[in-house]
Amino acid sequence: MIPMNNCSQAPQAISVREAAERYLNSWRDDVMDWEPWIEEVELARAEFARLINADAEDVAVCSSVSQATASVAGALEYDGPRDTVVVSQAEFPTVGHVWQAHQRLGAKLRWVPVEGGEISVDRYSEALDNSVALVSACHGYYQTGFKQDLEALVDLAHGAGALLFVDAYQTLGTHPMDVQSLDVDFLASGNLKYLMGTPGIAFLYVRREIADRLEPNVTGWFGQRHPYSFEVDVLDFAAGARRFDTGTPPISNAYIARAGMEIINEVGPVAIREWTEQLSRRLIEGGRERGLDRIGPDDPTRKTPSTAFVCTGDSHMAEAMLRERGVIGSARGHVVRMAPHFYSTMEDVDRALDALAEVFGGMA
Ligand SMILES: Cc1ncc(COP(=O)(O)O)c(C=O)c1O
Repeated sequence: MIPMNNCSQAPQAISVREAAERYLNSWRDDVMDWEPWIEEVELARAEFARLINADAEDVAVCSSVSQATASVAGALEYDGPRDTVVVSQAEFPTVGHVWQAHQRLGAKLRWVPVEGGEISVDRYSEALDNSVALVSACHGYYQTGFKQDLEALVDLAHGAGALLFVDAYQTLGTHPMDVQSLDVDFLASGNLKYLMGTPGIAFLYVRREIADRLEPNVTGWFGQRHPYSFEVDVLDFAAGARRFDTGTPPISNAYIARAGMEIINEVGPVAIREWTEQLSRRLIEGGRERGLDRIGPDDPTRKTPSTAFVCTGDSHMAEAMLRERGVIGSARGHVVRMAPHFYSTMEDVDRALDALAEVFGGMA
């Protein structure tokens, strides 16, 4: 099989499987071994921190991007002059759902539109004023692969006195990320896409100066300064991003997540970006040569590794037909996405495009 579905779920790497087995063996043989298990969660936190050039203390362990977003949303105040959250139409729906749910607590939403599969920075500019508390932006648009200019967004948000929350799920692992030089306030990602992991774990970076001022209402004993003090009537948030930890961490998923992120950190997001841009170029040009209709940027440097081809029939049926031909694509709405990764070859791309042209041709 040729996996071209990294925008949805990466394939299983040998070292990732071994990590999962290490946990299962420990559970079977030692029955309960909390110290090393919790240590494994710390190693996963540190590996994520390495990926984004942060300190591990500035990273919280979450269960999903939805939870990370809800943790941030619940820690903001909406009863002062800054009661507005700017959200784009390119967010993964889950992020939009979380912000909408916070309207009940007073949050006012202002939507930034998607035009031609992309978002213009000017639209953010127009949406900003001194009522905005936070801009919630995705780095990569899951549908078209459009990649936002984060530096411009940080400048715009901070220039208007607002915070910036970034969902980097569609880019992390294929785009070098330095949260410190970027000066982003919050950054969240899960692990099952380009980070070679599985569902059930996600990470949230929170800038130190902000973290200590925030009191999350999505919380629990692992978000406390002394999680093992067992004082039910004391609420004493841990310092920094750790206050965004919640309950018993996702231990088995942490084993898997670390192993996946180690692969990415070893290969290196700079090299991965360079190679996936070449693969994107081939997808764009090869798609054009085969007469495939596509949405999203023409310039590989302005997109994630995911390339979206428009399906005139049922995209999920197209995905199933591709699978019969040995190619795993990813259907989303009216498109089928082809998302290679560092291990993909030009030949993989060519074969995937041939299969796609055959499937789409049969549907026309
Ligand atoms: C950009 C982006 N954000 C969030 C999600 C989902 O987040 P969660 O971890 O809450 O399922 C996805 C995809 O599945 C995504 O592509």
